[in-house]
Amino acid sequence: MCGIIGYVGREDSPRPLAVAIEALTRLQYRGYDSAGVVVANAAGLAFAKKAGKLEVLEAELEAHPLPLATAAIGHTRWATHGGPTDVNAHPHLSEDGSVAVVHNGIIENHEVLRLELAEAGVQFRSQTDTEVAAHLLARALVEEGNLPDAMRAVARRLEGAFTLLAVARENPRLVVGARRTSPLVVGLGDGENFLGSDVAAFIASTNRALELGQDQVVTITPETVVVTDFFGQPVTPRQYTVDWDASAAVKGGYPTFMDKEIHDQPDAVRDTLLGRLTPAGLLTLDELHVSEALLRSVDKIVVIACGTASYAGTVAKYAIEHWCRIPTEVALAHEFRYSDPVVNEKTLVVAVSQSGETMDTIMAIRHAREQGAKVVAVVNTMGSTIARESDAALYTHAGPEVAVASTKAFLAQITATYLLGLYLAQLRGTMFPDEVRAVLDELTAMPAKVQQVIDGEDSIRELATSMKDVESVLYLGRHVGFPVAMEGALKLKELAYIHAEGFAAGELKHGPIALIDEGQAVFVIVPSPRSRSVLHDKILSNIQEVRARGARTLVVAEEGDTAVAEYAERVFWVPPTPTLLAPLVAVVPLQIFACALATAKGLDVDQPRNLAKSVTVE
Ligand code: F6R
Repeated sequence: MCGIIGYVGREDSPRPLAVAIEALTRLQYRGYDSAGVVVANAAGLAFAKKAGKLEVLEAELEAHPLPLATAAIGHTRWATHGGPTDVNAHPHLSEDGSVAVVHNGIIENHEVLRLELAEAGVQFRSQTDTEVAAHLLARALVEEGNLPDAMRAVARRLEGAFTLLAVARENPRLVVGARRTSPLVVGLGDGENFLGSDVAAFIASTNRALELGQDQVVTITPETVVVTDFFGQPVTPRQYTVDWDASAAVKGGYPTFMDKEIHDQPDAVRDTLLGRLTPAGLLTLDELHVSEALLRSVDKIVVIACGTASYAGTVAKYAIEHWCRIPTEVALAHEFRYSDPVVNEKTLVVAVSQSGETMDTIMAIRHAREQGAKVVAVVNTMGSTIARESDAALYTHAGPEVAVASTKAFLAQITATYLLGLYLAQLRGTMFPDEVRAVLDELTAMPAKVQQVIDGEDSIRELATSMKDVESVLYLGRHVGFPVAMEGALKLKELAYIHAEGFAAGELKHGPIALIDEGQAVFVIVPSPRSRSVLHDKILSNIQEVRARGARTLVVAEEGDTAVAEYAERVFWVPPTPTLLAPLVAVVPLQIFACALATAKGLDVDQPRNLAKSVTVE
């Protein structure tokens, strides 16, 4: 959702605006419908803001250039309060033009504050919740005499989740930020400093970053970074080095980020395994700062996540229960908190998230910890809220995922949760060391197998293009193939805006089979014939059931599975893989299919309509 950049440098120059536009370009992936910037110099504040894509703002800046400046703040907005219009776009300025703010999150008490300000004579220009912050800040600035104190005073009055950045006419060499729950990180430069809603905002300039905690205010000047709590007590933030390089977030010759990220998947799996196997092939998870005694005493695991991450968690459930014999549930993070979940000191909660900023997941983590559970985050973004608020963070090393719909993060999440499962099995003795070793060897072989599926992409693309007018596609799977079916359907909905549903194949006869009609397209994820053969036999029956009712059967199956061929209109072969690891290869044709079909329809696969990459509101 909203992307934020703040910058301050030493002298008037074009750099503040250039940094802001570069950052907003990199933050586009979060999803947005308007954008704006404000620059500050000794003469005051100047701004531009426009509904629509960044190009609209850039055209406006070309027609009406902004002056050279020392500081800038910029924003991409994903509308919540007030439609996506020029007026509602950020920045918002106070009535007297002395202060400008950009904001991510929702100010929950904005109506009360708006009423109070209106009674004091303030004329509102927009329908946003944000505008109250601009007016409150201008008033607090008069009372407090400086922007950092004014920001602290205002932050104390705001309810909800917010990141606020502000610049003021009175000091153009200073940018102030406040954060409660919504994300904000500091980038450290030489003679310049940055604030961003994530590191992508400033990665082109620096990889040195500071983590900010809850309810903190940060003041940056070209030479200094000062962090306090909302009451002015100093805080020492943790510094870290971002291990993503700036080039990782560019398309690298692919037509879209989605194409690139699908092709990044062998590396995502490889890098997530890296450093976690000793030369002797044993598993080490140094970052798992949860005591071995506690991990031994755990009697239940609950995976919390949303969307694609929840499907990765569902895949992991099958593996963890099989390897560790620990009952494992998967809960959608937004349902978890309200379902009165039974969690306690003996529960291990595994929170899975690419962005590390999904508000539903953050709230579920807080709830679980309040009940005494330990939380391990499986997360892709260093320094993110979920990484910081969990007891331990097990990073997936997928690199930056820019396309809004998740692909490589899914494979990395399966890999990391599997490592966690194997580690628990090793620790609790539910697997022999040589059994753990055998799975690790198989995991190490997976990047090459994923590559093999990607290499066969032409036939999937050709099918997808021929099906660009399809109205509905169903996906069937059993066991670990079930969450793969769900993920395949989600990708098609998100990217191609086509009705798609994933089912557990056994459920078909309990209702969904009524949907099967002449020509209905059905993808079926077939487990290895070498797996429990009963699973394989059952899914063959399901293929026949839908085919007998006129369905087009599109099958993902293991090479050499001769039994499926006669019931399938098309087969997409994946290399032989142990049953539990099969999702890592089986999902790839489904991702390519959705991406290619959406492209054939002329849709923007990187930024599908209505979606945001980081869902930072509940
Ligand atoms: C689907 C997708 C979403 C996310 C979900 C969780 O393609 O991207 O379903 O998986 O919003 O996001 P994270 O993993 O960032 O917590």
